[in-house]
Amino acid sequence: FFEKSLVGKTIITTASSTQEEIDPVRYISNHSSGKMGFAIAQMAFNMGANSILISGPSNLKAPYGVNRINVKSALEMLKAIENQIRLCSKNDIYLIMAAAVSDFKPKQPSAQKIKRQSKDMLILELEQNPDISKSIKEKYPHIKLIGFAAETNDLIGNATIKIEKKGLEFIVLNDVSRKDIGFDSPNNEVTIIFKDGKTKNLPLMSKKEVAYNILKHL
Ligand code: C5P
Repeated sequence: FFEKSLVGKTIITTASSTQEEIDPVRYISNHSSGKMGFAIAQMAFNMGANSILISGPSNLKAPYGVNRINVKSALEMLKAIENQIRLCSKNDIYLIMAAAVSDFKPKQPSAQKIKRQSKDMLILELEQNPDISKSIKEKYPHIKLIGFAAETNDLIGNATIKIEKKGLEFIVLNDVSRKDIGFDSPNNEVTIIFKDGKTKNLPLMSKKEVAYNILKHL
C-alpha cells in the first residue's frame, strides 16, 4: 500500500551516468548504476504521479508504470528533459536530478577510431557540459528541482553551495568515499539539506525507502 500523495504531479527523474563520446568506440563516463533514480521513478508512480524516467545507459529494467526515455550524453539528457517539460506544461512538475551527469565532454569527438600514437601521450581536450539543473531552472523557473550531491569532502558545505547555484528545493547528499553505500549499492545513507538550511539525516536503508523519504517532501 502506498499513499497516493503525488496524484496530479508530473515527476521527471534522471538516472544513471551519461556517456560522452571520444570516438565511435570510446567514451567518458562514471560509476553511477542508476539504482537510486530508478527507485525514485518507481516510487513516484506507486505514489500516484505521472512518472517519467530519463536515463543514461543502464542495464536496469524499466520500472512498472513509468515512461522511460533513454539518452546517452548530457546534452541529450538536457534536450529530453526540455521536451518532456513542453509536453506537460500545465502540470505541477518536479525534476529530480539523480543522474551523475558528466561534467566534461571531449571538445571534438573523433569521427574515426583514434589509433595508437607514435608518441607516448595523447592529449584529449575537454570542455564543460552545461549544468542541466541550472539551465532548466533559469529557463523554466516554475519547475521545482531536487538535486543530488556525491561528495567526498566538506559534504554539507559543498551541498549548500549547490542548492543556491542550481536553484534547488533541497539536495540529497551521499558520501561516495564510503564503499558500503552509494554507487551500485542497493542501500544508501543520505542527508537531506533543505534550502532554508534545515537538515535531515536518514539512517542506512534501501534505495526504495530513500526514494519514499525524498518523495514525501514534494
Ligand atoms: O555539481 P555537481 O555535479 O556535483 O552537482 C550534482 C547535481 O547536479 C546532481 O543532482 C546532478 O544530477 C546535477 N548536475 C547537472 N548538470 C551537470 C552536472 C550535474 O544538473 N552538468
